[in-house]
Order: sequence, then C-alpha cells, then structure tokens
Amino acid sequence: MTVMTILEIPHPGLREMAAPVAAITDETRALIDDMFETMYDARGIGLAATQVGVLQRVVVIDLQEPEEPEGEPVRDPKVFVNPELTWTSEETATYNEGCLSIPEQYAEVERPARCRVKWLDRDGASHEEEFDGLMATCIQHEIDHLNGVLFIDHISRLKRDMIVKKLAKARKAAA
Ligand code: NI
Repeated sequence: MTVMTILEIPHPGLREMAAPVAAITDETRALIDDMFETMYDARGIGLAATQVGVLQRVVVIDLQEPEEPEGEPVRDPKVFVNPELTWTSEETATYNEGCLSIPEQYAEVERPARCRVKWLDRDGASHEEEFDGLMATCIQHEIDHLNGVLFIDHISRLKRDMIVKKLAKARKAAA
C-alpha cells in the first residue's frame, strides 16, 4: 500500500468533476487500499479520490469513533463507490468541518442533518442506507469533493477569504 499525495487548494484538480467507476477491478481495490492508507496517515476521517488526483467516484470514510466516550478510537473502514444522495432531510445540522485539502482550517458548515446514500462496495454489491450525525455530514462533504465542491463553498465569502489568508500565512511560516 502507498501513501498518496493529497492535493491542497488552490490545485485545479480539486475543482474537477469525477467520473463514475464503470467496473470495480483489482485496480479500483488497490486505489481504495491506498486511499485508506493515505487517510490514516494524514489523520483524516474521510477522503475522496479527487483529493489524490484520481477523478473517479470513490470515497473512503472511517470516523474512528471510540466504543466509549473516553475509549481508544476503533477503526471502522467504509468505502463508497459511485455514492449518490437519494434523499436529504429538511432539518439541518452544523458541524465544525475541516478538510485534508485545506489543512488546519475549520469552519461551521450547515448541511442536511440526515441523508440516504446509494453506493457500491469494493465487491460491486449495491447498498442503500440512511445516515445521521457526523456520518451524514462526512459523506455529504466527500460527495461534494467528487463534484469539485469544497466545504469553504458553503460558507460566507468573508469567512472563505479568511481561511484562504490564514492558510497562506501558515504555509509561509512553515516554508
Ligand atoms: Ni475534504
């Protein structure tokens, strides 16, 4: 398995529309494994193929939630090939979102609190399930990536400009 390079803003690849996976092959499964490796290495909870420069509709998520509030994080890897939102609730929820492509920057983002998602797993089997809580937010954030959309597109221009400026400053300091 390989840790891939994660694209960061303003890389134009992050704004591209990803294509559906026509057939899940060993190559797709290798991509999925590499994406998990990359996500864990970066200490993220979700990653879209778009973020590693592959314009295919593949998302990996692992919320790594502990079994008890103070417990150790437990791995629970989930892969979504060709994920589609089939329903979203009118009720919304707000989370302080971050993104591996916009490192160390966070903002409150409002999205539908619950959603239904249809997808294929790594063996090509079809699933449909309703999600709520952090999982609902995370899968919507990752599907956005497949459409070239970033969480900063959901906030005010003022807040977006602030994040871009803070990131530029942090990069300068690190250089
Ligand atoms: Ni992201």
